[in-house]
Amino acid sequence: MFEEINNINIEVQNFQSKSLEEIDQFRISYLGKKGKITLLFNNFKLIPVEQKKEFGARLNILKSSALEKINLLKSSLKDHSKSKKTDTDYTIPGQPTNFGSRHPITLIRDRIINVFSHIGFSISEGPEVEDDWHNFTALNFPEEHPARDMQDTFFITDDIALRTHTSSVQVRVMENSKPPIRTISPGRVYRNEAISARAHCFFHQVEGLYIDKNVSFGDMKQTLLYFTKSLFGPDTKIRLRPSYFPFTEPSAEVDVSCTICSQKGCNVCKYSGWLEIMGCGMVDPNVLENCNIDSNIYSGYAFGMGVERIAQLIYQVNDLRLYSENDLRFIKQFRSEI
Ligand code: DAH
Repeated sequence: MFEEINNINIEVQNFQSKSLEEIDQFRISYLGKKGKITLLFNNFKLIPVEQKKEFGARLNILKSSALEKINLLKSSLKDHSKSKKTDTDYTIPGQPTNFGSRHPITLIRDRIINVFSHIGFSISEGPEVEDDWHNFTALNFPEEHPARDMQDTFFITDDIALRTHTSSVQVRVMENSKPPIRTISPGRVYRNEAISARAHCFFHQVEGLYIDKNVSFGDMKQTLLYFTKSLFGPDTKIRLRPSYFPFTEPSAEVDVSCTICSQKGCNVCKYSGWLEIMGCGMVDPNVLENCNIDSNIYSGYAFGMGVERIAQLIYQVNDLRLYSENDLRFIKQFRSEI
């Protein structure tokens, strides 16, 4: 009998399994009703009296070590399944971090600002919801000007509208500061246009204003030449064509030499070699007077350009709608250079 205990003990110690079913099977065949250890307990009465004490003690030890073994195997099973779920596999390649990109209009606006800030222009901003005085009247727009029509402008009341250009900020700056003034005003503007590839109901402009004593048309031309060379490259040329704006006299339209075909002729410049990029002119004395600046002492120039227009030329994007649809496939292609 004692030998039997020893043999069973060796079997118990040697038993190994990672399957719950096998462990259960083991428990039943040793500790179940007809299990090997249980049967030994049943044989207790056959043991001579003088050996009962030792037999009982050894049998109890065998039973508890079998139970211990079962618990140990079961708990290692649980640990294993738990660790499977939470284990991190450090050999898996990492997920790449996607860097954001700036909107192409923001990139071009910042490049324009950067050029002018190098030659001493400050940045001014004004409201997008503007009154008639700042958007039209102070800028010398006659009463019957078509821009004052509901068809061209989003009116909120008779006197309040979404600004149609950033020239309104000129008026605010001149009203609130004394010359010399050297500032640019970037911002969003609105026009009552049907949306198409070539027109949108909102877009962005950068306005420029320079007021001081003895400012000449030549000063303006040099500044604009410096600007276009900085933006489009040192070989860029400009030409000024006479034009009309209510707030400048004389007024001009600025063309740059075609950046795409280098004036050899292409369909972007319509084989003319020139691209129109902005309007400009000497600030009309009426506008200076409307803003309480003495036009006998001071003169100045102003210019205004469309940011989308410049972006179209730099990125060669032909459909204006792409700039406001927020299609990530489009937006992600643009990267900052400054
Ligand atoms: N405000 C004009 C427009 O929206 C652009 C412009 C032209 C601004 C001539 C100026 C300027 O300051 O001198 O079309």
